[in-house]
Formats: sequence, structure tokens, C-alpha cells
Amino acid sequence: MCGIIGYTGNRQARDVIISGLKRLEYRGYDSAGIVIGNGSIQLVKDKGGMANLESILPEMKGQYGIGHTRWATHGPPLKKNSHPHLDCKEEIALIHNGIIENNMALREELIQRGHKFKSDTDTEVIVHLLEELYHGNLEEAILKTVARLEGSYAIAAIHAKEKGKIVGARNISPLVVGIGKKENFLASDVPAILEYTDRMIYLLDEEIVTLLKDEVKIMDFQGKPVKRNWQKVEMNIEGAEKSGYEHFMLKEIFEQPDVIMDTFIGANLNTENGYSLNLKPDTIKIIACGTSYHAGYVGKYMFEEFAHVPTTVEIASEYRFSSITTSNPLIIGVSQSGETSDTLVALRIAKKRGLNTLGIVNIVGSTITREVDHVFYTRAGLEVGVAATKTYITQLIALLALAIKIGVAKETLGIDDARYLSNQLRKLPKHVRTILDGSEQIIQLAEEISKSKSMFFLGRNMNFPVALEGALKMKEISYIHAEGYPGGELKHGPLALVTKETPVIAIAVKDQTYEKMLGNIGEVSARGATVIGIGTEGDTELPKYADHVIYIPKVPPLFTPVLVSVVMQLLAYHVANVLGCEIDKPRHLAKSVTVE
Ligand code: F6R
Repeated sequence: MCGIIGYTGNRQARDVIISGLKRLEYRGYDSAGIVIGNGSIQLVKDKGGMANLESILPEMKGQYGIGHTRWATHGPPLKKNSHPHLDCKEEIALIHNGIIENNMALREELIQRGHKFKSDTDTEVIVHLLEELYHGNLEEAILKTVARLEGSYAIAAIHAKEKGKIVGARNISPLVVGIGKKENFLASDVPAILEYTDRMIYLLDEEIVTLLKDEVKIMDFQGKPVKRNWQKVEMNIEGAEKSGYEHFMLKEIFEQPDVIMDTFIGANLNTENGYSLNLKPDTIKIIACGTSYHAGYVGKYMFEEFAHVPTTVEIASEYRFSSITTSNPLIIGVSQSGETSDTLVALRIAKKRGLNTLGIVNIVGSTITREVDHVFYTRAGLEVGVAATKTYITQLIALLALAIKIGVAKETLGIDDARYLSNQLRKLPKHVRTILDGSEQIIQLAEEISKSKSMFFLGRNMNFPVALEGALKMKEISYIHAEGYPGGELKHGPLALVTKETPVIAIAVKDQTYEKMLGNIGEVSARGATVIGIGTEGDTELPKYADHVIYIPKVPPLFTPVLVSVVMQLLAYHVANVLGCEIDKPRHLAKSVTVE
């Protein structure tokens, strides 16, 4: 989730790059840097945001260059980890967005051949590879380099001796070329360059682009030339920051297939030694607030199933009042911001009690990551919408990965089973895309639901916390009163509130809870409630019980919370949209809650 920009033309590149980087700051702001080429490489970079970079920026003459704003993934936000990165001879400068999966293996190999690394980043391996493979032509070196890279990336590079040339490459992470008159632009996002041109060429996966001020050439990763015409972008700058989506929340929901993959890659489950972990707790306690608490609650089922570790979940602000400690526990704090006071204080109390702590956190370098014994990063990138969506989904992925690892460490999960689960995890982005593609049905149902004053969400087992999260999302952005309940609990009181005015969202996927959920649907239908069932594709029974059915693809049971949650997010979003709510900034709420 970093921002990339490149410029070549007749203007002073410094000014174009700085103004573009300011527009990209919403993608990442923990460090920033710029390189201008002018026969040599002039580099300025530092930790901190654009205001800091501008305050230290000298006069830089030159008409081509690249710039970057960083969202830390490998290595804390420090000057040495900021982009651009240089090769040993300081002739090549490179910026990168994404994750290089095989960076550890490449780094070792390059160090053995004498390369000196200056940063903790995965990015730096690319520039050292380029240095080895460069023989006078940057695009040829990039072509050979990408053949060595695994992972998701968008990169841009310049060489001191190739005046006016920028070369970019894309695999999964976005990259767009802006076509000007005697000038051309390269960026991770349209808003960075929309001020200068509305003529764009969107690079596709496995493509390399070479920019000169009066020429743009594209080839694929086999070196075959590609012809592509530019498209006119009909967007203003504010719209472009949201990539054309009406709200950041919707954009972030649609980013989920990508960030699931990034978190999966970051968890290192795709390599042999990725399964080894030196954590074998006898019990686990998960502490968190709000949406993160719901993710943790789903995690409980994962740890119990894969690692056979009895797991409890506690609202972080309540943890201080409990005094019972089990033997050899692991305390897991889940927090997207890494700054939530309730969670931070609970983790400090756990540490004072001498307990082993682990944080599942999105923001690199945040307070929680500095205080816990172990950190497991989610890689959702910057989330602007106050209501957590992609950070929550990546917490589920991180919890799945951690449960698999602890299961392997405790030998409750065989390596073949772990591999099978990892392969299933790898397929989740595709399944999420299927749900996103089916948004039209959810938009229609949202119209109907938006007329209600109150509603219920029902689920059982691992989908009970998903019902809680569905209700939370609905109430916080649409202001419709919503409650989540375990299906079996309704008859113990809340059923008194169920009438034809209260729609019920019932999670009735094909798992061990299915028959019981059909029973619960019958109970609420008998009270006149309209039921929207969320079921497994191919289920022809559920439509006989529910008024409407939204299908999700078939996946292993513990993966269903991810897919059901995406349906719930879309439902809440579209209801709030019909009601004209201020979706990205719901009333009374803040993105990071730093008071107890
Ligand atoms: C709801 C939401 C909040 C947060 C909660 C904890 O959409 O975002 O409920 O989940 O405030 O925040 P973090 O995860 O930053 O600790």
C-alpha cells in the first residue's frame, strides 16, 4: 500500500513528483523519498510524512525522477528503510509497492555474492539484482530481474546513465501510465498525476513499461511487445483518490482480495520453513475491542480446531478485572491501529503478570507492536473508512495462519493438512471476488432493509461472532439498531422483539450448524420476519426456508467467516448508502480510540 510516482519530460521533475506524492499520502505516510536523475543520482528520503520531506528538500535540478510514500511492511519506518533504494554503485534507484515473497532467499544469495544491504526491506533485493543484471539497458535488466521475483509488486527504476528513462513493472500491485505532451508519468494511482493528464494506460499483470518523454513502450514478462491505447479518465481528483468508488469504505471492501493475498504472503505459509514457530501455548486468551474482538472470537474456533488449545476471548477493557491465569498461556492482542488504549493497557497488565504476549496489528511500529513479545502483522495497508473492513478480514487471515502454525508446532496438525489449508487460503481472494461481483443482489436487498428500525443477525459456532460483526457494521454506519445472537439464544428472550418489522439475517452455511439454523429461520419466519439467508452455493433447501438467499462459494468451515463477513460488509454499506449516511465518518466514532 505504498504510493509510487515517476516523471519524465521538460519540467523540473522535483515539483511534479512532490505534488504527486502529496496526493498519494493517503496510501502511506510513514516515510517518503525522491530521486532525480541528471547524469547522477540525487536522493533525498526520510522517515515521516511529506511535510517533513519538503522541509529538508534542497534545490534539485533534473527532468526525470521517481518518488515514493511508504506504508511499512518489512522493517520499521526509518530513513534507511524509506524508498528509493540504491544499488551498491549508486547508479540505479528503485521504488516498490507490494511484497517480495522470496526476499529472504534472494538476500542470502546476494550477500554471498558480495552485495551490502543497507535496509531491512524486501525491496532492496530488487535493486541489487538489477545491479547484477544491468548491461547498459535498464528495461532488459528489469526483464531479467522480474523472472527472479515472487510476490506482488509494482516497481519503478531509473539509471543515472540512461537520461530521461523510467522503467516500471507490474505484478498484481497497480501501476498506471499517464500520457502527456512531450512528457509522461508513471504512478500507482491516478490521483497522483491527474492534475497533469487524463490520458491513462493501465498496465496489466506481468507487464513492463519504458517511459521516455516522447515515447511509451510496453512489453510482457516474456519480452514480447504489447500494444495498448490510452483511455480518457472521467474523474476529479477527490473521486480519483477513492479510485472512482463513492466512499473509501467501498473501495476498501473491494481491495480485500489483494490484501488477503498480502497477509497470506506475509505469514510465510507458502514456504517450507514458514510452518515452524516456536510457540506452544497450553491456553490462549485473546483480548481486543469492537471489530477486532469479533475477529479474535472467530480466532478462538481456529485455535481450538487446528491447535487443540483451549482459547478464551475477552473484551480488552474487561481484562483488568479478571485475575485467573492458566498455565503457559499466550495472550494475543488484536488491534488494527495498534494504539487502542483498552487493548494496550490490557496487554501491559498481562506483561506485568509475566505472561507471553503477541500482537496482531496492522500499523507497523505502533505502540502495541513495540511492547509485545511477538508481532504478527496484517498487511491491509491504510484504511481510511472509520468502520474496519479490510483490516478485519486480514485479522481473520492472520489468525488462521497463526492457528495453523501453532497446530504444526504442537503436532495437532500434520504438515500435509497444513499444506492443504494453506492452498485453500490461497484460493480465498478468488472467492471474495465472486462475492464482490454479486453485489447487485445485495444492493436490491439493501433497499428493502433500509426501511427497518431494528434487525437481527443470527449465526452459530464460528459464525456467531460473524453475526455480531454483521450487526456492529450495520449499526455503526447505517444507525439502524441491530443485534447479533447465537441462533439458539433467540428463544430465551429476544424473540419477543421479532415481528414483520424486523428483518433477520441468518447465516445458514453447510456445516454442523446447518440443520439447527434452519430451525431458527423457521422460528423467526413464524413471527413474520423477513429472512435473508446466507448459504453455501448449490444449496437448494435453504430457499424453501428463507425469503432471500445470498450464496457464498464452498470453502472449509473455518474459512466461511471470511466470505460471510464480506457479504455483511456489503449489506451494511449499501443500506447506509441508501439512507444517505456519512459512511466514511460515522457519527461519534474515531479510527483510533486512544482513551480508556
Ligand atoms: C468498528 C471498528 C472498531 C474497532 C475498535 C478497535 O468498525 O473499527 O470497533 O475495531 O475500536 O480498534 P483497533 O482494532 O484499532 O484496536
